[in-house]
Amino acid sequence: AKNPVRVLVTGAAGQIGYAIVPMIARGVMLGPHQPVILHMLDIEPAAEALNGVRMELIDAAFPLLKGVVATTDVEEACKDVNIAVMVGGFPRKEGMERKDVMSKNVSIYKAQASALEKHAAPNCKVLVVANPANTNALILKEFSPSIPEKNITCLTRLDHNRALGQISGRLNVHVSDVKNVIIWGNHSSTQYPDVNHATVTTSSGEKPVREVVADDQWLNSEFITTVQQRGAAIIKARKLSSALSAASAACDHIRDWVLGTPKGSWVSMGVYSDGSYGIPEGLIYSFPVTCEKGEWSIVKGLKIDEFSRAKMDATAKELIEEKSLAKSCLN
Ligand code: NAI
Repeated sequence: AKNPVRVLVTGAAGQIGYAIVPMIARGVMLGPHQPVILHMLDIEPAAEALNGVRMELIDAAFPLLKGVVATTDVEEACKDVNIAVMVGGFPRKEGMERKDVMSKNVSIYKAQASALEKHAAPNCKVLVVANPANTNALILKEFSPSIPEKNITCLTRLDHNRALGQISGRLNVHVSDVKNVIIWGNHSSTQYPDVNHATVTTSSGEKPVREVVADDQWLNSEFITTVQQRGAAIIKARKLSSALSAASAACDHIRDWVLGTPKGSWVSMGVYSDGSYGIPEGLIYSFPVTCEKGEWSIVKGLKIDEFSRAKMDATAKELIEEKSLAKSCLN
């Protein structure tokens, strides 16, 4: 039998936490043959709710679930974890300045970086979900220098999946027939959902999405804003932010990272920029990546037109501003 993999979920008593822990325990993240031990962290005010989630995990009698650690102690939570899904954070509340929210999250991610660095298993893979996801991931990277920078990523797969969903709806094809959209940049409303390299499988083979949609006006405006603002649309409808789709996307992100992307297709991940596509190094920026043997690599050599260039630079600029705001919170 395989050794269990230890998966940490922070903010586990929250909404995404409640959606993701049963997915992980059912093998959605790591496959149907991989036993798991769940580590769940939340803060003291949520301790009782966290214990309730622990009780439900026991009651669900998941065959793959070999153990549960539920704690408010970050050091204990991080002990020997192989995968860390960082969902916990400080949400923006009404009347709060961007800087105040940033400052709270910077101190949370700084502390959790140190705990992961000290206690996580070697080669632990980290996925930051909590907003501002790219910048939280960057802080985590800065304060865990012994964790390889390749192991620290943030979630833009939800945006990627939303883009696939919009194209498939427009063409009335199944979502699995659409591939190779790209989310560039920040997980925020400046992100750039790019369909210039996306394809759709039709009865006469694989065709460029641009050719099949045949409506550049829609692709260059409404499609982009719908994807950028989908999170807000969900909040408006549900009065709560997207949780099931975020949880599902986080599972997709880790699964593809660990088990590999299918041949001929790529996904979007927020990763530490190596300067590809002229994006400054030192940012966590969403790129198209393929994964193999547990490692991602940025898809190189894609043609970037002027329209895309401007949008890719605008979202990079926002990340540079977030980075300096985060830095100023550290002083
Ligand atoms: P939530 O408020 O329901 O849950 C957050 C949980 O984190 C709470 O239980 C809270 O007690 C806990 N928490 C706060 N500080 C913590 C700390 N220092 N350590 C451990 N836990 C802590 O929020 P929800 O809906 O689950 O969303 C979580 C985060 O994910 C938010 O920041 C949200 O903006 C973000 N998000 C990101 C998406 C993405 O695509 N990257 C998509 C959807 C949400």
